[in-house]
Amino acid sequence: MTPEETGTDLERRQAELRSSTLQQFRRAGSDPVTQALLRAVLEYRLEEAGSSGTKAGTLVSATAPGPSSSEESGNGASDASLAALTLQSVLADMGQLPALPEVVIDLIAYLERPDVEANQVAHKMARDPALCAKILRIANSSYYGLQGQVETIRDAFAVLGLRAVRTLVAGAAVANHLQALAGRQQRAFWVHSAGTALCSRALARQVGANPEVAFTAGLLHDLGRLILVARFANEYHGVVAYRIAHDGYMIDAERRVLGFDHAQVGAALAQIWKFSAETVAAITGHHAPEGQPAQALAGLIHVADVMAHALGFNGNEEDLMPRLSSFAWNRLNLGWDDFRRLLAEVDAQRNDAEWVLN
Ligand SMILES: [Fe+2]
Ligand SMILES: [Fe+2]
Repeated sequence: MTPEETGTDLERRQAELRSSTLQQFRRAGSDPVTQALLRAVLEYRLEEAGSSGTKAGTLVSATAPGPSSSEESGNGASDASLAALTLQSVLADMGQLPALPEVVIDLIAYLERPDVEANQVAHKMARDPALCAKILRIANSSYYGLQGQVETIRDAFAVLGLRAVRTLVAGAAVANHLQALAGRQQRAFWVHSAGTALCSRALARQVGANPEVAFTAGLLHDLGRLILVARFANEYHGVVAYRIAHDGYMIDAERRVLGFDHAQVGAALAQIWKFSAETVAAITGHHAPEGQPAQALAGLIHVADVMAHALGFNGNEEDLMPRLSSFAWNRLNLGWDDFRRLLAEVDAQRNDAEWVLN
């Protein structure tokens, strides 16, 4: 609370926070995990707004969200009258997308080798100054606690390690490439992607998964949506119209209208671009983590996606907070106190999200 803020201002801010949080959870269902998530997010937000947070419990019990949407369609029935596009035609179009720049393919292949030399990588990366700048920005972000100290790619290797640089190079390269392809006007998309990347990394570190792999998978999880919006804008308008008319989730609208969803499209593209099987499976399963094997990254990315929405890293107003899968949540074996701490941790890293956009 700022010193000049009056009690009324604070109450108004808290009321706004409650209503925006409940808006996020509008369709999120009434199962106990979702209720607990809502409580954790509200408590965190109210604490942030200068409240003791004790009001959150009252609010949760007084205004439980409605039953979960009946829109869930699985991958089932599409509405044939609306479907002009097929997954096959989208995949065929991907063949027409400009390939990843040669410097990136070269780098990713080189970084797979057992005898990688930092000098060689620095030399290869010098051909792509925008990529170098992005990697240096990540290395200097507050997450690594080295602000301003990493001046060269060789420094980045020394402080981050080979595996981290490899994953970040791949993620940053694809982000650069897609920005060139789809245009930078998709700012909301990149805010959501960067936010999910930060949440994925925080969750991974907490549960002992690889933070850099999680970061890149979080960054790319909605890749398929960008492709659909950028390459098939007319067809996608039909999806948005369906979502509005049925007041459901975008993913369900995609399945109904198109007969497939952005998770399938994104996974196909990640495979074409030779991301690891783990990353491809995480993209495929981020809206359906139940089908994934134990320790799979999909469940973590699913929770990170929900967490990013809770922190306001939304794609756009059509992009509602997904239903939290209790299966994915329980697998992470994370307490709500830990979750609230991670919300604060990512909130404090907000500026780190900017690297994606610059
Ligand atoms: Fe998604
Ligand atoms: Fe998402």
